[in-house]
Amino acid sequence: MNKGLAIYPGSFDPTTNGHLDLIERGAKIFEELVVAILRNSEKSPMFSVAERLEMLRELTAHLKNVRIDTFDGLMVEYAKSMEAICILRGIRAISDYEYELQMALMNRKLEPTLETVFMMPADKYSYVSSRLVREVAQAGGPVKGLVPEVVEQKLREKLDPAYKLRDVRLIEVLGKDLDKREKKRKKKA
Ligand code: PNS
Repeated sequence: MNKGLAIYPGSFDPTTNGHLDLIERGAKIFEELVVAILRNSEKSPMFSVAERLEMLRELTAHLKNVRIDTFDGLMVEYAKSMEAICILRGIRAISDYEYELQMALMNRKLEPTLETVFMMPADKYSYVSSRLVREVAQAGGPVKGLVPEVVEQKLREKLDPAYKLRDVRLIEVLGKDLDKREKKRKKKA
């Protein structure tokens, strides 16, 4: 049993600033924190598990005691296989409490040795959820400040593939322009 290891499970579709805030808080408390993305979610996700994994890895690269992983099936089974003694979950508001309490008690019934620890993200993120972020972004609204910049960019690319193309074209055009200027400079020299 690894007493310093906690699992922070979730869908992270996509990671919000609230998630990141909680990961940073958890990383200060636990020796090691494994952020575990559920693979077999029934919901049809916006981002694939691979995309979510990549984003989370990038976002937590500065936290040396944080690892990102994925899991299938029962969370308690996964936590046991990792020899963790603790599950970390975030509670933003009273509305989260009922669901989280139910889940924590069910997990305790399934595996009594596993404790759930709740932490609160910064109050400025208390209304931020992945579902609302997806909804706002899908309707063309701004999500700046609600998600990390990497996620904001990925949301833009996902919802408007032309955006990525526009970036590539811009780089091509700028590249050609730079080439021309370089050739001119060489001719003059
Ligand atoms: O970010 P989410 O969607 O609130 O996370 C929910 C999650 C992934 C933690 C929960 O659905 C889960 O643990 N699912 C795995 C299956 C499981 O163990 N179910 C019983 C939980 S009581």
